[in-house]
Amino acid sequence: MEAEKKPQETKPEEAKPATQAPEEGKDDLIVNPYEVENKTGKPIDYERIIQQFGVSHITQPLIDKIEQLTKKPAHHFLRRGIFFSHRDLEIILDKYEKGTPFYLYTGRGPSSEALHLGHLLPFIFTKYLQDAFNVPLVIQMTDDEKFFHKAEFELEEYQRLARENAKDIIACGFNPEKTFIFINTQYMGTMYPNVVKFQKMLTFNQVKGIFGVGDSDNCGKIAFPAIQAVPSFSNTFPHIYGKRTDVPCLIPQGIDQDPYFRMTRDIAVRMKYQKPACIHSKFFPSIKGILTKMSASDENSAIFLTDSAKQIEDKIKKYAFSGGGKTKEDHQKFGANLEVDIPYLYLTFFMEDDARLEEIKTKYGKGEMMTSEVKKDLIAILQKIVADHQEKRKAVTDEILDKFLAIRPINP
Ligand code: TRP
Repeated sequence: MEAEKKPQETKPEEAKPATQAPEEGKDDLIVNPYEVENKTGKPIDYERIIQQFGVSHITQPLIDKIEQLTKKPAHHFLRRGIFFSHRDLEIILDKYEKGTPFYLYTGRGPSSEALHLGHLLPFIFTKYLQDAFNVPLVIQMTDDEKFFHKAEFELEEYQRLARENAKDIIACGFNPEKTFIFINTQYMGTMYPNVVKFQKMLTFNQVKGIFGVGDSDNCGKIAFPAIQAVPSFSNTFPHIYGKRTDVPCLIPQGIDQDPYFRMTRDIAVRMKYQKPACIHSKFFPSIKGILTKMSASDENSAIFLTDSAKQIEDKIKKYAFSGGGKTKEDHQKFGANLEVDIPYLYLTFFMEDDARLEEIKTKYGKGEMMTSEVKKDLIAILQKIVADHQEKRKAVTDEILDKFLAIRPINP
């Protein structure tokens, strides 16, 4: 009898498994899709993550190149280092320059109806990319993933949440001509050939190493990573790209999602598909401080998209962690510690006016401006963003949603 051929195991090309401690005996900073834990007592050290994950810095020349290609100023998330690292972004830009457009892929796990501002960041940035490069975008709603990983609801509830969350995503302003949203439990048939091919290349050992799942986890958790992987391949969307497997893909994502795509890039090579490129964001901190987590169970830890103007004002006034001096005298003498100051940090995410932000940075940093003044600016900005979102969200009917979900040709 012929010896059975074992599927070859690939060694992760670019990094250690995400769950492995970055240095011997140091597990005080854990970043992976299912756990983000910072026990260092300090702001998250993104340099350490870049080293550990084996990703690259977004450098000024790359930002210049984006501006040159899009003939637009780069988004402030790029200019301020909020999207801070990447894989193969330069390749995407080179190809685009030579006339080969890419497509964008991102997604959302519909675990709850209560979306907060942090959830919007990747979508705000993806909208900028879609407009600036005028390229197609596919958005994956992972109702299956949440069902496997959470115990709260029946599958039908995750399916409903996928539709509700998709409406919030649409409210970010995506181009209906160029955006395809798909819910995994509905779209699986079309994706399945690629999922099957991918699963055959991926061993249980690799999934264990990358995602920390174990022998007694339900097997949906073990099978799922392939499903998040394959939208990186253009033939997963035959209504857009037919059988083509050569269309470059760029994936905006929170850095915690990188393990999925590190895995995808390994397997892509063996499937003779294009490796997707990635662009990663930092985490959005909790109102209560950079060491606290935002959580849906503590409603004062985050600004929710359903908050009223009054709720936003109260949360920021009462709970936003201040890096200012303990007393007025201290503050005027030593200034504010901007690294931990939530009002200032939130402004770096949401204040578009560079000049005003710079002024606040200088004056507040020196103690010439009080926390209450910074909070006032922030409250006004957040109230406007949330009210605008609520307006736009109200306008997204089931009919509009179904247009985004429709399987239809899209002009690349
Ligand atoms: N797993 C992600 C989440 O839990 C959802 C997701 C699916 C995603 N595909 C993606 C995120 C691609 C970023 C990029 O939210």
